[in-house]
Amino acid sequence: MSQFKTIRDVDVTGRRVFVRVDFNVPLTPEGEVADDWRIEAALPTIRYLIEHRARVILGSHLGRPKGDPEKDARLRMDAVARRLARLLEQPVLKADDVVGPDAREKAGSLKDGEVLLLENLRFHPGEKAGDDAFARELAGLADVYANDAFGTAHRKDASVYVVPRFFPEGRRVAGLLLDRELTVLGQLTTQPDRPYAAVLGGAKVSDKLGVIRALALKVDKLLIGGAMAYTFRLARGYKVGSSLVELDFVDEARRLLREAGDRLVLPEDHVVAERPEAGAATQVCEGDFPDGWSGVDIGPKTRVRFAELIKEAATAVWNGPMGKFEDEPFRAGTEAVARALAECHGVTVVGGGETAEAVRRFGLADRLTHVSTGGGAFLKYLEGATLPALEVLDPA
Ligand code: 3PG
Repeated sequence: MSQFKTIRDVDVTGRRVFVRVDFNVPLTPEGEVADDWRIEAALPTIRYLIEHRARVILGSHLGRPKGDPEKDARLRMDAVARRLARLLEQPVLKADDVVGPDAREKAGSLKDGEVLLLENLRFHPGEKAGDDAFARELAGLADVYANDAFGTAHRKDASVYVVPRFFPEGRRVAGLLLDRELTVLGQLTTQPDRPYAAVLGGAKVSDKLGVIRALALKVDKLLIGGAMAYTFRLARGYKVGSSLVELDFVDEARRLLREAGDRLVLPEDHVVAERPEAGAATQVCEGDFPDGWSGVDIGPKTRVRFAELIKEAATAVWNGPMGKFEDEPFRAGTEAVARALAECHGVTVVGGGETAEAVRRFGLADRLTHVSTGGGAFLKYLEGATLPALEVLDPA
């Protein structure tokens, strides 16, 4: 059941609908779209609006512009507009400003079923500042507000948190992607089927402390991999060589180990490398790491153990690679987790940019219940935090 009114609940025909999308996509060095997965994820909403003869005005941020015109030029939305036009198989107009004369003129002369993409919303300082005057101008471009940017729902940027306040009740709705994200992720927080296993990886305990704490209370097994595991390993009294660790978080790791007991599952073996780069000598380590060597992946015993726990779960969620998966020789742990999720018969959800990329790279995305478009937003949601963008939409 939808939590919020969606674009299906409002008459959009002939109306100008502003859709806040998350087209914050990676770019190639030449400035082309390197991965259009987030654009694809918003297509159902855009296609629905086109089919219902709405006048579609899309707005997104791209990267984190710093106000330096030369560097920021890379972050213009032109390449995104081109890719979107290709995916939609119809022209996409592009405005060269956000709320300036070009945006106003193009939004004002849009015809039913046409699509306009505004310039990078963060080019306007009012976007990050959550500025009222800017939000009012942006809202002035449209008759209906739709949010389809789950990936940005944890921010208080004007376009997600302030703009909807300038629309009347009943016209501040969710897009179909946001609706799906909330429906699936909602299952993880309210009465998930058990056993419930969560797998967390990535580099830093500090980034994930909130979600580790929250999940440690909710799940039956919390599997920890990636560089994060080395801080825990240090907390257990092992030597970790030159592995990436956060000394400031060793005490916290010790506390979590104590409190979570056997719900917390740490790797029993690791792949360590003489240098953390492809081609370096490696060995599998169950005890202390050799001086100067670095952990780069979970070890073979851990791969088997993690896969067993994932496959027997009725609910499984995953964020964060198990090692330096961008280097082929250190990919096995991340791939084993992805394959186990694909083979699990329960509800399987992954989120986070690198994790989503990993499952797509292994060709396994279609075998999971859901691959979230959220990174930070996904973690915040799992943590149980209120996402600001959701506070301002009309309840169903
Ligand atoms: C993301 O990629 O997580 C979102 O697009 C939010 O981007 P931000 O971290 O720059 O706010």
